Amino acid sequence: MRILTILGARPQFIKASSLSREIAKCEFCEEIIVHTGQHFDDNMSKIFFEEMNIPKPKYNLEINSLSHGAMTGRMLEEIEKVILIEKPDWVVVYGDTNSTIAGALAAKKLHVKVAHVEAGLRSFDMRMPEEINRILTDQISDVLFCPTQIAVQNLTNEGFLGKGNKIVMSGDIMLDSALYYKKSMKRPKSLSQEGGFKLVTIHREENTNSPKRLWSIINALNMLSKEGHNLVWPIHPRTKKIIDNYDWKIHFRCIDPVGYLEMLYLINRCSLVITDSGGLQKEAYFFGKHCLTLRDSTEWVELVENKANTLIKVEDETLTDVLRCNIDNKVDNSSHLYGDGNAALIILNQLKESFSVGV
Ligand code: UD1
Ligand code: UDP
Repeated sequence: MRILTILGARPQFIKASSLSREIAKCEFCEEIIVHTGQHFDDNMSKIFFEEMNIPKPKYNLEINSLSHGAMTGRMLEEIEKVILIEKPDWVVVYGDTNSTIAGALAAKKLHVKVAHVEAGLRSFDMRMPEEINRILTDQISDVLFCPTQIAVQNLTNEGFLGKGNKIVMSGDIMLDSALYYKKSMKRPKSLSQEGGFKLVTIHREENTNSPKRLWSIINALNMLSKEGHNLVWPIHPRTKKIIDNYDWKIHFRCIDPVGYLEMLYLINRCSLVITDSGGLQKEAYFFGKHCLTLRDSTEWVELVENKANTLIKVEDETLTDVLRCNIDNKVDNSSHLYGDGNAALIILNQLKESFSVGV
């Protein structure tokens, strides 16, 4: 069974590492990895392949730093060529990036079966490029692997049942990765302090496309830092470019993006996560840390319902006050919201079964 895996962005490397490990154990399975090139800096891409022993991509399309249409269009064209050469039985796509929709669409048009890992998530905010990507990818996927029951319910509500595709509650593959790699977590070399800090990541388009909005966030974080809160921010290159461009001053600890093993160390050691990341919201929960999410909406609604995550609107003129009020929030992570950490095995078993019966 030939599985063509489409990867492009940092969180996809982390998710795919767990399925790659299972595929490697299967004697009649072969994985061919396509890296679209969407993320390309060493610490946004290479480090993950090295640290997590992800098999080397057979193809690197080197498509990045383009507008949504140009990036997705070029990926579509190039992935199509690869599929025609490799003739896979499955194309597996992860999450909600431009690489995801390009991979799914190229495969579907060539009548190759598409498996979508992290299907069924909805923020119900169509201004987010991720929401568009995930809705469209779900529409053309043959097997939809849902991380949560709510994701299954979203697909059911949208009339997916009985359409000839298969919905599988696999649990969240990011939990597999977190459980597997937490024993190997390591302190980032750039960080000397050992604890007592709050972890910050900001990169989403809704926060970085508007300088006013990004400045509100930085200003609020600067204020917290002035009041004595230690903050550590591994800065995504997208955000760094804007900060450098405006020459904004940040009065707390900023570091380059770190590999996953370093990131797990930071999440484990911090007292709070402040982010707009999708993945970080869950990882905060895995490690029992409260998460303040600087977004209008989240696709991980169960975290908000369980009071593990507080959504904070950035437009709020009292952003600093709202952050301050929530800074000591605690988390009960005893509910198994994301399964048991065996999503990769469930996914591979389903791919094998669907392959043997012709879906
Ligand atoms: C993408 C995903 C987003 C995901 C994020 C994970 C889409 C629409 N967005 O956003 O859902 O949360 O990845 O991190 O697919 N850049 C670099 N070096 C890199 C990578 C990016 O300099 O290694 C720069 C690019 O040149 C570009 C900017 O960052 O100017 C944005 O990169 P892009 O891949 O378009 O979007 P992300 O913000 O990373
Ligand atoms: N991550 C990392 N190093 C960093 C920042 C994030 O390894 O410097 C990991 C993080 O732990 C999570 C994933 O990257 O597993 C999330 O990626 P990101 O926030 O870029 O994207 P999103 O999840 O929002 O799509």
